[in-house]
Amino acid sequence: MRWASGIHRAKYFKRKKLTVVGSGNVGATAAFLAAQRELGDVVLLDVIDGVPQGKALDMYEASPILGYDAQVTGTQNYQDTAESDLVIITAGIARKPGMSRDDLLATNVKIVADVTKKIVAYSPECVILVVTNPLDAMVYTAKQVSGFPRERVIGMAGVLDSARMRSFIAEKLKVSISDVSAFVLGGHGDTMVPLPRYATVAGISITEMMSKDDIAAICERTAQGGAEIVELLKTGSAFYAPGAAVVEMAEAILKDKGRVLPCAVYLDGEYGVDGYYMGVPCRLGGDGLQSVVELDLTRDEKAAMNTSLASVKELVKQVDNLGVF
Ligand code: NAI
Ligand code: 2OP
Repeated sequence: MRWASGIHRAKYFKRKKLTVVGSGNVGATAAFLAAQRELGDVVLLDVIDGVPQGKALDMYEASPILGYDAQVTGTQNYQDTAESDLVIITAGIARKPGMSRDDLLATNVKIVADVTKKIVAYSPECVILVVTNPLDAMVYTAKQVSGFPRERVIGMAGVLDSARMRSFIAEKLKVSISDVSAFVLGGHGDTMVPLPRYATVAGISITEMMSKDDIAAICERTAQGGAEIVELLKTGSAFYAPGAAVVEMAEAILKDKGRVLPCAVYLDGEYGVDGYYMGVPCRLGGDGLQSVVELDLTRDEKAAMNTSLASVKELVKQVDNLGVF
């Protein structure tokens, strides 16, 4: 038997198409996990010649062993990203010891603006998930440059921060991670807002299972979770959990699951916030953001959200002052 020559993806495969921009630590991890979960064919793009191609080929060669059907290709050319259903932006520089996420702003805003412009030119209907830091300012940049509605430009931070909180709770209480759920809201910085009231083990709030001191220690470790990894790695920042976090969001969208996850979304009056990205519980499905879940916050929780909002506003002001778009 012989196949017709020149097999063309669009003609023969009905799979979804996912592009990951930036083939560094987070991008490559996300691409590999997305392929393993068969979310669709994956295009890995980077400015460095050969790196996305090499990593993509390596991932594709793992497919017979791991048993997934997904093409993985690497490129420098945006034409290859055309008609992507979903694009994950991880391009940019990462933190080193002594740097905050906010120190990355001036460099990364130019990169994210440039990447967004090119992505939108080839995939005008895609959903964009932004990972690059400082997250709340970079996802704002992607929204401004793309001109997309808020449903299609979403930031990843809360899933990661909540995963960190969940793992610390499971470790402390010596329970299965499968039974632990948690929500971290607000901006992706030191002012993030872990919500112990909504952190549960098999539906039971941790406020009934742990001392106030233990809960405070877990919240503090969660807020410093990124810095803890940077101090250990010394050459960059976390990537396994961030890669897994953005792929969980991608899966919710590409498989139209209606998952409720904490995501950075452009608020339009919800939580009393207008015109800024903040981490809040959202339902994600086929169109991207389907709805924002509004919680009735206590006075202390509202105050923490306001403190977080103030730091997001400061970042956005810096972006606007740079005049990149
Ligand atoms: P990395 O340095 O390993 O990879 C970044 C990649 O972006 C590099 O391969 C670089 O060549 C590429 N790149 C730079 N400019 C580009 C451009 N114009 N077009 C395409 N590719 C370009 O960094 P890593 O660890 O993958 O982190 C990426 C970003 O994600 C950082 O800004 C980091 O702070 C952020 N991050 C955000 C998290 C979150 O929760 N939102 C979690 C972890 C990382
Ligand atoms: C993190 O939280 C660096 O934002 C990144 O690990």
